Amino acid sequence: MLARTIPPATFARRRRALMERMGPGSIALLPAASQAPRNRDVHYPFRQDSDFYYLTGFPEPEAIAVLVPGGEQEFLLFCRERDPLMETWHGRRAGPEGAMARYGVDNAHPISQLDTLLPGLLENRERVFYAIGHNPTFDQRVMDWLNQVRGKARTGVRAPVTFVALEHLLHAMRLRKEPEEIAVMRESARIAASAHQRAMQTCRPGMMEYELEAEILHTFLRNGAGWSYPSIVGGGDNSCILHYTENNAPLRNGDIVLIDAGAELDGYASDITRSFPVNGRFSAEQRALYEVVLAAQRAAIAEVRPGQPFSAPHDTAVRTLTEGLVALGLLQGDVDELIAHEDYKPFYMHRTGHWLGMDVHDVGDYKVGDEWRLFEPGMVTTIEPGLYIAAGSAGVEERWWRIGIRIEDDVLVTTEGHEVLTVAAAKDIDAIEALMQP
Ligand code: GLY
Ligand code: MN
Ligand code: MN
Repeated sequence: MLARTIPPATFARRRRALMERMGPGSIALLPAASQAPRNRDVHYPFRQDSDFYYLTGFPEPEAIAVLVPGGEQEFLLFCRERDPLMETWHGRRAGPEGAMARYGVDNAHPISQLDTLLPGLLENRERVFYAIGHNPTFDQRVMDWLNQVRGKARTGVRAPVTFVALEHLLHAMRLRKEPEEIAVMRESARIAASAHQRAMQTCRPGMMEYELEAEILHTFLRNGAGWSYPSIVGGGDNSCILHYTENNAPLRNGDIVLIDAGAELDGYASDITRSFPVNGRFSAEQRALYEVVLAAQRAAIAEVRPGQPFSAPHDTAVRTLTEGLVALGLLQGDVDELIAHEDYKPFYMHRTGHWLGMDVHDVGDYKVGDEWRLFEPGMVTTIEPGLYIAAGSAGVEERWWRIGIRIEDDVLVTTEGHEVLTVAAAKDIDAIEALMQP
């Protein structure tokens, strides 16, 4: 999370919208992410909790946001105090004063006062909203605070009686992206598309997978972004391993390479996969499989429009892939029966998409009751069909082996239909081959 572009007014509007949904008599508690140790004196790069960041824009660990709708002070924050020595070693802190000056906090306190002050905030509040059960340490602290309030019952203080999973309200908000979010996601997608283009242009037989990963990261960092998940760069056999991240094998002449890599810009993910020949020219088998996946991806993208169920792109992709496998002789039989028996699964074992946003597998329910959710403008989904013919695939001629192809784009639902945010990454065979010419 390097660049920061979402203005404070947007965070304030989100807090207001959430508080209106919570109603009076409520309180919401949101902990920041914790720093995780990696090895002696070194931490994993800090990544703020998405829910916390969505509502506060506050980038530091060791913080708790408290929302009190209807209270005199509706947005409270507990955070680290300024500390010249610690800041010299570990970096700047906003401190309570900075939090109030720069993050729209009504009243900020040192995090060291949390246990002293938090029980009082729960007094006479009826409902507590928080991410119940996601963080055992925080669960225990909330129960301790609750019991402190209960202990004062004889003084006339009422303790909260209802605990509500905050995700229910908050994730419904995050599922529908606001214009500011779409602008950041468009930019995150542009950066990732440009990274994939660079990897295609750079790729040569004999390079190592990690050298292509370096080209991807180069573009991310040059644009003020990081990665939204560790990049997958798999050549040949490795292209058939869905979550391959070792990225340490040589890229061989005649093999396909699959790159699944996305940027994270100001907390928003992109998620792109491209598959291309290491030597810049598709072989007959690579071309045939690629055309099937591309047809499935185009058909699936065409299903993304308001009112269509989330399942529609997947169902369409499965049909197109199965028809293609039959046409190429990799499956035999009636297409409807092959689909009903899921006979395509040895070659296509994952689903066709997921919500995309602050988290690469973003929040938001996929079903409403028993029914698939219908697409609405502002939702963003990936569309990512693939075919993976691993070495040794039973009943498949050897010439098809070691070819893994996935084509993944990020698709925004618009009022008219959809917009492919990642359109700048080449995906037609001709465009890829042209781009890869030395
Ligand atoms: N990059 C993870 C995914 O495509 O779902
Ligand atoms: Mn994906
Ligand atoms: Mn992906």
